[in-house]
Amino acid sequence: MAPLLEIQDLRVAYGKAAILKGVSLALEKGEVVGVIGPNGAGKTTLLRAIAGLTPSEGDIRYAGERINSLPAHRIVRRRVILCPERRRLFPEMSVRRNLEMGAYLRRDKAEIRRDLEEVLELFPALGRRLHNQAGTMSGGEQQMLAVARSLMSRPELLMLDEPSFGLAPLVKKAIMQTLLHIRRRGLTILLSEQDTKLAFEAVEKAYVLENGRINIAGSTESLLADPHVKEAYLGLA
Ligand SMILES: Nc1ncnc2c1ncn2[C@@H]1O[C@H](COP(=O)(O)OP(=O)(O)OP(=O)(O)O)[C@@H](O)[C@H]1O
Ligand SMILES: [Mg+2]
Repeated sequence: MAPLLEIQDLRVAYGKAAILKGVSLALEKGEVVGVIGPNGAGKTTLLRAIAGLTPSEGDIRYAGERINSLPAHRIVRRRVILCPERRRLFPEMSVRRNLEMGAYLRRDKAEIRRDLEEVLELFPALGRRLHNQAGTMSGGEQQMLAVARSLMSRPELLMLDEPSFGLAPLVKKAIMQTLLHIRRRGLTILLSEQDTKLAFEAVEKAYVLENGRINIAGSTESLLADPHVKEAYLGLA
């Protein structure tokens, strides 16, 4: 069977600056895969290209169809959802409104209501703050809201761009626990993280993106044993 997501020789440039210089990767349905790499390596660029938010060359195939010519809203309709870097909530809107925005392309009202109940079970703290302005919540609560909003789009492939960014260690752990929980529902997840140790708690394999190229890829166990990964990303000499 073909992978759910298959990327071949993906190239993205901003003006003359080549950022992705031929990236290839594949995700099987139900896999939880990480993209790690230093600041500026192109992780966000990769996720944005998949989401149709950045023009790209090469091939991004989703469920067998080339999607890098599609506008972003068509990609959302395919249930390929990006939970963006730094959350991008609507801070003036209530928590409830933010969650509803996640379902803005859907017309299945009864199912939306059911999904809302489900995400509130997953994130009880949000249920207690449904009428609060999103911008008044703590960083951790806002990140949970961002993940919950993405779930309201009923993702088949959920891409999370640095969900632990700026959070305290315990809150980071809580976010990862949630990912472990949602992966059990059979979602396919692509997680970009700078906190490699943390990412390795949630993913089964990872791609290491450096200077616009995938330099190393493999199972979490093999990466944990890789000398370069140990030194550069795990702080182990
Ligand atoms: N819209 C843009 N226009 C020009 N250059 C950009 C744009 N977006 C990103 N870049 C540049 O592309 C490179 C890759 O950025 P990107 O945000 O993809 O990296 P990243 O791996 O996500 O980094 P971080 O870990 O800091 O989030 C950086 O050098 C960045 O300055
Ligand atoms: Mg980034």
